[in-house]
Amino acid sequence: MTLLPPEIERVLVPAEQIAALVSRLAAQVNADYAGGELVVVGALTGAAMVTADLVRQLAMPVQMDFVSVSSYGDQTVSALTLPVAGHNVLLVEDIVDTGETLARLQAALLAQEPRSLRTLALLDKPARRKVDVSVDYLGLDIPDEFVVGYGLDYAQRFRNLPFVGVLRRSVYA
Ligand code: PRP
Repeated sequence: MTLLPPEIERVLVPAEQIAALVSRLAAQVNADYAGGELVVVGALTGAAMVTADLVRQLAMPVQMDFVSVSSYGDQTVSALTLPVAGHNVLLVEDIVDTGETLARLQAALLAQEPRSLRTLALLDKPARRKVDVSVDYLGLDIPDEFVVGYGLDYAQRFRNLPFVGVLRRSVYA
């Protein structure tokens, strides 16, 4: 059993529930792309965990790549290593909050003219949405709390927790 760091108020999504969510999402993706191929693009850094866990449950031929959005300045989207023009692309995010990051990533990927583009997000905080974005495969809606773990950070910490937990307000307030 994983010990709870003192900064974590409570576990919101236990590791077992995350695993079940990822398996359910992978089954949906497998059903939709049966007989096809897929380029899976994870959004760094937070989506590294869900991307790694997801691709190991995908049945079709898969290529993997990662993108990042700089969180300052003009919020540029980094270049992909793989060419995605003409390919089925699945963009993978850990969480959709305001939707701004996802909107930017979707626009940048669509500009490269993939054959298709769909988006998977493990978590969604609908209460915080500012930009209307479409998510094709969604794991779980969560309340508007400061969550960390399974890729999600506070000041670059806690990404390695195997669960998603609520950060104590005293840590960031
Ligand atoms: C987080 C998360 C999403 C984004 C969601 O990334 O991984 O990409 O924020 O927020 P939004 O919907 O309000 O745009 P962050 O920019 O913190 O970078 P990280 O993945 O490196 O932690």
